[in-house]
Formats: sequence, structure tokens, C-alpha cells
Amino acid sequence: MKKINFLDLGNQPLANNYLTKKNKFKKEKKYRLKVCFENTTKLVSIEKIFPSKLMFNNKYPYRSSMSKTMIKSFQSLSKFIIKEFKPKKILEIGSNDGAFIKNFNKNKTIGVEPCSNVEKITRKLNFNTYSEYWSKKLSKKLLKKFGEVDVVYSANTLSHIKNLNEVFNAINIILSEKGILILEDPSLIECLKRNTYDQFYNEHIYVFSTIALENILKKYNLEIFKIDKLSIHGGSNRYFIKKKTNQRRIHKSVITHRKSELNYGLNNITTYRKFATRVKKSKIKLNKIFKKLKDKNKTIIGYGATAKSTTILNYCNIDYNTIDYFLDTTKDKQNKYTPGSKIPIIKYSGLDRNKIDYIFLGAWNFKDEIFKKEKKFIKKGGKFIIHTPYPKIL
Ligand code: TYD
Repeated sequence: MKKINFLDLGNQPLANNYLTKKNKFKKEKKYRLKVCFENTTKLVSIEKIFPSKLMFNNKYPYRSSMSKTMIKSFQSLSKFIIKEFKPKKILEIGSNDGAFIKNFNKNKTIGVEPCSNVEKITRKLNFNTYSEYWSKKLSKKLLKKFGEVDVVYSANTLSHIKNLNEVFNAINIILSEKGILILEDPSLIECLKRNTYDQFYNEHIYVFSTIALENILKKYNLEIFKIDKLSIHGGSNRYFIKKKTNQRRIHKSVITHRKSELNYGLNNITTYRKFATRVKKSKIKLNKIFKKLKDKNKTIIGYGATAKSTTILNYCNIDYNTIDYFLDTTKDKQNKYTPGSKIPIIKYSGLDRNKIDYIFLGAWNFKDEIFKKEKKFIKKGGKFIIHTPYPKIL
């Protein structure tokens, strides 16, 4: 299967590799971030893939519970699952700090989370969580211990796993015949429409489209029967999937999504080349904004030291000379420095308009939540800089 490179995002450090004071001056491991399109399955992926152990280990800084938006989303999905599928057993792949499984009875859930520093949060609360990578071997072990499960859920995780063959075979082992697989990931069409090229970094091996996912799933006798469009993470899809032998009706949302993706040209390399051109323009525009503000001696800080912003900052060559510091609520990121760009990350404790003029919104995917929280700053004339759908000041 031939992969066609369509986007080069330059030399990048590992996106979640926040630097400590000690290693800030050491040479960082960098790689060339290129994005490719595979014409048979229509799958979009990054070219260079790192071993999982390098990225998902006992130092993983990401916490699912860090935003109200995510907590609310998991709560409403859990209610829906209970009402609609009445599951006896639920398995989550990538359970992180338990933001989803905490909505269920402890003896009904199994969580799989290879990053032991986050997995231990739920284990301490007596949830059945396993600090292991999702695999056929683990699936067999869980099947033996708990029996089949009626719902498998995985949000923002499958895009992190290189071997999708192992993933789906392992799911098929433990998912009951009438069981439901629910996958949630950023949507490729939204990424292209909104020019959110920062969805690509070493951890996001894939950004899925419906058409690519359908092409992959059919090899495992699985099919999508419903798709919910979510605003999460800048536009995600929640795919409801069943075994082909399960006679559930296919919802019209599947046809609508497939159609709109084909109309947009997600099956065609030309669409991706056009996106690459827009990304180059986005870099020029963002740099112009920063230069103009710096020339006027404005104070610029960052809000939300996201993995995504690592791609933006390193692609656009923006560093500590432009952004004074980032504010972030995640403990494991505080008092560290952003990868590559070496911008200090400081604990969030409110915004002082007298000291800050402009804020680069790294966590743009939580814009509504953050703007609500920072009403005062905005009222006093404080401004935000955002790169999507095109770089602008808000
Ligand atoms: P997120 O965009 O979910 O992830 P990724 O790192 O995968 O690109 O990360 C959001 C970051 O923003 C996280 O480090 C927490 C931070 N944040 C705040 O500091 N304050 C906030 O109000 C919110 C919503 C997030």
C-alpha cells in the first residue's frame, strides 16, 4: 500500500516531552513530522511512528478530567449508554484518570491504561484498571477473568496505536456478539475545514475519517451503525459500531457522514494538497500577527500548554522570545518548559489584565469553556490569538 506525503510540518520534538529546568539546555530528540495519505484505505497518518513505550509511560502528563467540557461529555455519554444499551460490563481502552468509568458502578467496568502514573489514580479507588497496553493477550486474560463485555469504549486513544490489526482483533475477542463498540476521535473533515494541522503530532498517528474507518473495520467484520458529531477537541466523531452478524439497523447519520466526506474529497489526494497550501499560509499569517504585536511591545503569554501547540510553535518557529510563558492547570506540566520552544509553563492562578495584553490560545479546543472563565480579562480589553480556522485576534 503506497503512502503519499502531502504535508511537512518540519522538525518537531515529542509533543508531550515537557522539559525540566535541568534538561532544558540538552539537545532534544527531534523528528521530521510528515503527514501521508494512503490511497487504498484512505487513511491519513503521520510518517514517523515512535514506539509506544517512549510516549505512553509512567510520566504521561495528560489528564482527561482537566476540563469541565470533557467531564460533562463523559457524564452524558454514560447516561446514554446505561439507558440505551443496559450493559452488564463495560471496558474502556485508554481509561486515563477515570473520567469516563467513574460514571459507572465499580464492578461493571474494566479500564485499560498503560500510563501507570494515571492508571494508579483509578486503581487506588478500587476500579478494575490495568496498567497494560491493549492487546489480544490482555483481551484473552480479561475475558477469562470477567467474561464478555457488552460495551467497549475508547476515546482519543485508537489514534495513538500503530497496530490497528491487533486493536480490532483484541476487541473482537472480548466484545459479545450483540456488543457495541464506541469510538471517539477527532474528525478528519473538521481538521481540514478548520486548518487544525496541530492535530498531527507524534502521539496522533491517525486522524480518522468515516470512510477510512469503514475500510478498516470491514476486515474485522465490524461496521458503523451510527455517528454522532461532537464539538469536542475541535470537532470529533463518536462512532457506534457493531459486529456484522448483529442485525441492528444502520442509522442515516452513517450515510450522511460518508456522503459529505466524499463530497469534500477525502478520498482524493488533491484535497490534502490544498490543505497543505492552507497550512503554509496559516504559518505566515500567525507569524505576522506575533511580529506586529512584538513590534508594539505587547505582552504575549500562552494558555493551555497542549501537545497540539507543540506542533504549531515548532512549525512556526515561535519560542520563548515571543511568548513569555504558558499558563496551565496540569500539575505535571507546571514549572517545566514547552518542548522545542522552551517556553516556561506556570501554574494557572487567574489572569491579570495589567500584566497581559495578548494570549495565544494553545487549548483552542476548550475556547468556549476558557472564554467563559476569563470573562473579566476579555471585558478589560484582553485579547486572545487563535490559529483556527485561520490566525486571528479575538
Ligand atoms: P488538550 O487540548 O486536551 O490536549 P492535548 O495536549 O492533547 O493537545 O489539553 C488542554 C490543556 O490545556 C491541558 O494541559 C490543560 C490546559 N487547560 C488549562 O490550563 N485551563 C483550562 O481551563 C482548560 C480547559 C485546559
